[in-house]
Amino acid sequence: MAPIPFILDTDTAQDDCVAILLGILDPVADLRAITMVAGNVGFEQQTDNALMTLSVAGALGDVPVFLGCRRPMVRPWVSAENVHGDGAGGLSMETSGLKTASEHGVDALLRLTAESPGELTIVAIGPLTNIAMAVVKDPSFAGRVKSLYIMGGSNNARGNITAAAEFNFYVDPDAAKIVFEAGFDITVVPWEPLTVRDALFSREQMAEIASSDSPVARFFTAVCETTLEFDESVGIPGSSHPDSMTVALLLHPELVTHSAAYAVDIEADSELTRGYSAMSWGVHGLKPNARVIESIDSAKFFEYIKSTMATVTTPSRPIVGL
Ligand code: RIB
Ligand code: CA
Repeated sequence: MAPIPFILDTDTAQDDCVAILLGILDPVADLRAITMVAGNVGFEQQTDNALMTLSVAGALGDVPVFLGCRRPMVRPWVSAENVHGDGAGGLSMETSGLKTASEHGVDALLRLTAESPGELTIVAIGPLTNIAMAVVKDPSFAGRVKSLYIMGGSNNARGNITAAAEFNFYVDPDAAKIVFEAGFDITVVPWEPLTVRDALFSREQMAEIASSDSPVARFFTAVCETTLEFDESVGIPGSSHPDSMTVALLLHPELVTHSAAYAVDIEADSELTRGYSAMSWGVHGLKPNARVIESIDSAKFFEYIKSTMATVTTPSRPIVGL
């Protein structure tokens, strides 16, 4: 089977880094570009995190990094530094001489999909600002994207940044609303119940991954620690991996055990329920606009992450603290 070509739109911190690693290390993946969007941590920090991730995989310079929107469409940016710290566990790398692509991330999304109409999947694992801005700039954009995988929202369940909303949809609810109305072929990978039930690794499992002692496994352990501590502090008993799960389900759809068609709409007006993802499961007379993943094979997903993180690589540049 030919490798699967995709673009990763990311707010690179913690599990976003793991998602990038899958795009580089899994032979099924053909990661064509990374587009950066304002989300988890400071924009420059996210960019450094992405470059460091490419480096630890020995792939610095192999995948272009395009800088996209540095704030949401309407609202001020909301950080998740309280959750992720710097998003890279305090690791650092000399970035002098490194350049990100000069083209804006939104323009790169439009150009790359125009050059390969119907061939590229976009995997969006941050706020949907870049995707929505591309839709606003060119209404034909959705029609030439093969499919859009979105990490975001919760399926008739709790949020994580508020009781109602998951972070990616909370940060830019206006963008999320535009994207779900744009006509993409959408697959949604939600926070609850899916991530916290099927994509959570215990400390024992994290130790299993670390035990391979590859540079990638040491990087994985470092970038996940701060978020793991935060997860545990709010009653989530493990390391949460929604972003890497989203890439994994594109590359290995056999991991999906249940999914269904839903009508998904986003609350963009109310401050109380800003970013809430209303997911109607088909009995309310609403036209479905997305497939929502309801469960995955959790054990197989863990084994996939564990084996991929054991890949032996030669980092492109030294990672300080690794
Ligand atoms: O709510 C989880 C999502 O928000 C993940 O994509 C995480 O990286 C943050 O962006
Ligand atoms: Ca993310």
